Amino acid sequence: VIVDTKYGHHLREHFLLDSRLVFLNHGSFGACPKVVLKAQSEWREGLERDPVDFMLHRLPGALRSQAEELGEMLGAKGKDIAFVENATTGVNAVMRGLRLEPGDQLLTLNHVYPAVDNTLKFLAERNGCEIVRADIPMPVTCSDQIVDAVVEKITPKTKIAVLDHITSFSALVTPMTELVKACHARGVPVLVDGAHAPGMLDLDLESIGADYYVGNCHKWLWAPKGCAFLYVAPKNQSDMHPTVISNMEAEGFPFNFDWTGTKDPSAWLSLGAAMAFHRSLGDREVAKYNHNLVIEGSNMLAEELSVELVAPPSMTGSIRAVRLPNTETAGGEDAAALHGYLAKEHNIEVLVHAHDGVWLRVSAQVYNELDDYERLIAALRDARRLRVF
Ligand SMILES: Cc1ncc(COP(=O)(O)O)c(C=O)c1O
Repeated sequence: VIVDTKYGHHLREHFLLDSRLVFLNHGSFGACPKVVLKAQSEWREGLERDPVDFMLHRLPGALRSQAEELGEMLGAKGKDIAFVENATTGVNAVMRGLRLEPGDQLLTLNHVYPAVDNTLKFLAERNGCEIVRADIPMPVTCSDQIVDAVVEKITPKTKIAVLDHITSFSALVTPMTELVKACHARGVPVLVDGAHAPGMLDLDLESIGADYYVGNCHKWLWAPKGCAFLYVAPKNQSDMHPTVISNMEAEGFPFNFDWTGTKDPSAWLSLGAAMAFHRSLGDREVAKYNHNLVIEGSNMLAEELSVELVAPPSMTGSIRAVRLPNTETAGGEDAAALHGYLAKEHNIEVLVHAHDGVWLRVSAQVYNELDDYERLIAALRDARRLRVF
């Protein structure tokens, strides 16, 4: 049983989360600590006190120093990191900047996030390309199965592989270093969608070796919403452009990303405050607590409700998915009904998703304890009794 008095419900005081809410979905949009929001307000006020001086003279250096600090945490150099608003924007910058030709294949996983899938579909339709999806076996028992599934789909026409480091609804941690190696050995560049990874996994970007790596800081690193990054390997930087071309285009990467028109940069600038708070609560210890708690909570869920665990703990971070039994024919409306029931009747926020059955994805964060999962189990028993699922 998880008893770590350093973490638990008392830490909710650092977040704005409604006290009635059982929050088991930190994964979708994060939850930003109060101290980070305060830092963000201060940055905003600093900007508004002297807007021209701030935007023209203070901002460029301030952004670069945040990139340096982020790079130190994630195993990369600041000069190889650009800020973007979110993972979707980063993926779009990379993919829409590629010089695609008819017949090119865009390789991804069958569990790809919808926004990324839509980007691939848009590009495939415009350019006469084909989307190829590697099927992850379910349940998955070892990470080699994911490498095999991807390698099997590589052909001479594969232009790029767009691979999740942590899949969304199924919450699998994929073996990214091995995947990159396998793709590179076959001449295929890799864009990693690491939307959930920063703050959850012990990242070392340079040793992963991907061509491009996109990560959100507004999920597990506790930055304000709108704070994400795009790492680009040096060899790819000369042809790297933001989707929105603006004043700094001639300066090249990463400066062309630092300015894409006038906007509020306070989420990016508050990253240092987010990382400092994360460090003050234990840094790697945070992820360890979250991992242990989500494993224990999801195991309990599986035992009590006979739901199916789809991946071993070794392929799990701070989110874990279970598949509900006898839901093969259920669709999006059924998933929405269950989500609505849990949220409205029980104040429980959890991800519910339909994909060959109904999936539940639970999360653990420093403010959670095991009793949050007990409440979810009780609510799911009620839902079953009432035939919500
Ligand atoms: C795997 C994956 N990719 C991309 C995203 C999109 O993130 P954002 O909305 O911050 O762009 C998510 C969001 O949860 C995700 O899980």
